Amino acid sequence: MSAGLCLYVVLAAGKGTRMKSSLPKVLHSIAGQSMLAHVLGTASLGGGKMAVVVAPDSEAVAAEALRIVPDAKIFEQATQRGTADALLAAKPALQEHTGDVIVLFADTPLVRPDVLAELRAALDDGAGIAVLGFRSKNPTGYGRLLIDDGGALMAIREERDASDAEKKVGLCNSGVMAFRVPDLSGLLSRIGCANAKNEYYLTDVVAIGRELGIRAAVVVCDEDDVLGINTREQLAQAEAVWQARTRVDMMREGVTMIAPETVWLSFDTKIGRDVILEPNVIFGPGVTVEAGARILGFCHFEGATIGTGARVGPFARLRPGADLGADVHIGNFVEVKKTTLGTGAKANHLSYLGDGNVGAGANIGAGTIFCNYDGFNKEKTVIGEGAFIGSNSSLVAPVTIGKGAYIGSGSVITKDVNPGALALSRSAQDERPGWADKFRIMMSRRKAAQKK
Ligand code: UD1
Ligand code: CA
Repeated sequence: MSAGLCLYVVLAAGKGTRMKSSLPKVLHSIAGQSMLAHVLGTASLGGGKMAVVVAPDSEAVAAEALRIVPDAKIFEQATQRGTADALLAAKPALQEHTGDVIVLFADTPLVRPDVLAELRAALDDGAGIAVLGFRSKNPTGYGRLLIDDGGALMAIREERDASDAEKKVGLCNSGVMAFRVPDLSGLLSRIGCANAKNEYYLTDVVAIGRELGIRAAVVVCDEDDVLGINTREQLAQAEAVWQARTRVDMMREGVTMIAPETVWLSFDTKIGRDVILEPNVIFGPGVTVEAGARILGFCHFEGATIGTGARVGPFARLRPGADLGADVHIGNFVEVKKTTLGTGAKANHLSYLGDGNVGAGANIGAGTIFCNYDGFNKEKTVIGEGAFIGSNSSLVAPVTIGKGAYIGSGSVITKDVNPGALALSRSAQDERPGWADKFRIMMSRRKAAQKK
């Protein structure tokens, strides 16, 4: 049989009771993206057809699947009667398809594309079923792979149905399986539910296949690649594995991380070469850092772009729409939202820049605030190239500061300022010569009089 295009069936209909959540289990996130999206993303790399099995009334799960793979086929499993029953819910897709079938669990989000390729290679070697297994020091909860004296896979035993001897087996079932059999749905329909949970276990396909002369092979991968998420504790564990893995990938691509274990990345974080990340930086979704930028400690970013050679932090917050050009400097306690900063612009201390456009080389003094919101509308602040905004200024939007203009410190600017002008809006300074000395004398006399 030719391998051809593969059909991926992702099982996502389980109840996820152990999460104790009102959110369906497979929509819980790792690195800011649902587990389901992780699995579908990996499967899509193989370029095959996709089917997703969901529980009834789980529009959110179906919508998430279609967001990632718009032409995925969605199947409903009427009642949650086990993994074999779930796979059979996709029967129309199984019957229509003639090539290999790979079954993935949406609660096993870290599986890697190269491991899936190894499963297909096992099929090429003549196995009808290829099971992805792993060795675990703590196998409790997983199904065990039972190997015969000749080294062939005989059966998979679920923990609840296992004898004491079988429980001692350290080789576990990841749940991921590949099939190259003439009639998969026919094979699945032979599976019964005489077991501890009265469920139709997909794992029984191995023993049933063996009776029919179908050989099952085992491909062993790293435990970390196939963590199954049933609880919040395991969710956190998977997050840690994903983070560690991705940090290493990035360092291999030329990113310096001084304390990698303190940097938190998102599924879509993009960081260029020779970027230096100091400790304790958090990347929310949608962040790109271009080559050679330096990120100082304790920053929080989401939906932001940081240009080449820029320097950001410590303690900077970049929110969605922050777009920093090359060599921009953003310093401590500066918050930027929906604001573009041109090449070399600087805002080094204690500022809020929201809904703005800052020209190249402009300097935003300490404590400057873009007053962008009046409780109803958000308005724009536009600052021309090379303008200088004095410290502690409030720019009340909508407002435009011309190219090269100066704003005197402490001003509240409500009207546009022409290019090259100086604008000040504060009361003129009033000086009273000798006042302080007279004041001190008067006050000390008064105190002395009170003591008597
Ligand atoms: C399953 C395996 C076990 C394996 C473990 C790996 C079976 C019988 N057991 O156990 O051998 O070691 O995964 O993590 O296959 N699902 C449905 N419909 C159902 C039941 C489950 O769609 O009726 C989906 C779930 O959404 C989930 C996956 O199938 O994505 C696995 O289900 P789960 O109940 O978590 O199985 P485990 O008990 O973890
Ligand atoms: Ca599971």
